[in-house]
Amino acid sequence: MAVDVRFANVLTDTLDRRISVRILHPLFVHLHIAFLLMAFVAMYAWLFRGLASSVFEDRIYQFARANTWAGVVTVALSMLAGARDGFAGTVARFAGPIGGWLLVKVTLAFLLLVVYGTFLYWSGKKKRYLQEDRRAMLWCLGTQLVGIVMVATITVIGTMVVYYRDRLPQLPLPF
Ligand code: HEM
Repeated sequence: MAVDVRFANVLTDTLDRRISVRILHPLFVHLHIAFLLMAFVAMYAWLFRGLASSVFEDRIYQFARANTWAGVVTVALSMLAGARDGFAGTVARFAGPIGGWLLVKVTLAFLLLVVYGTFLYWSGKKKRYLQEDRRAMLWCLGTQLVGIVMVATITVIGTMVVYYRDRLPQLPLPF
């Protein structure tokens, strides 16, 4: 069957709601992992290039800030989609035997917003020449480091929930 006919069928099926939305969360997850990894790499490239050449490039720091903003927005969207999937998805549910792991992810995701919110607060106080404000610089470097460790941790839990469930200890919701 020609591709366009098949696409037309998928479209009409979707419009006729015959294709139910199984999961949404993975649509957003990979976006914020990429943005926040880029922010981390840019922030530390700004530091090491600055230390090596004594020229701290504002444009690299701005790039880190822009990627953090995009990361925070997509984390919020991903949390909404994840919550939707946790209640109505077909892979892992809060009410299921590993619902507690989803709760761990919810908690870590909110903490993630606090950590990157702290970065945006301090970097917002010193939008340029960050190297001149040692305290703001340490907050920015520290939050980017803690943030990326948390992103990696939540990503590992999420991946195990989907692909290594047999290796994950059962953890139902505590309430
Ligand atoms: C409110 C917070 C969150 C909830 C309720 C949640 C829920 C879920 C659920 C139910 C799944 C299973 C697949 C699905 O049904 O979509 C999943 C998978 C996943 N989650 Fe989350 N999640 C949250 C936040 C996050 C965050 C912040 C990250 C990354 C930093 C993340 C990374 C992942 C990954 C990598 C997967 C596997 C996706 C795949 O490749 O299929 N999640 N999550």
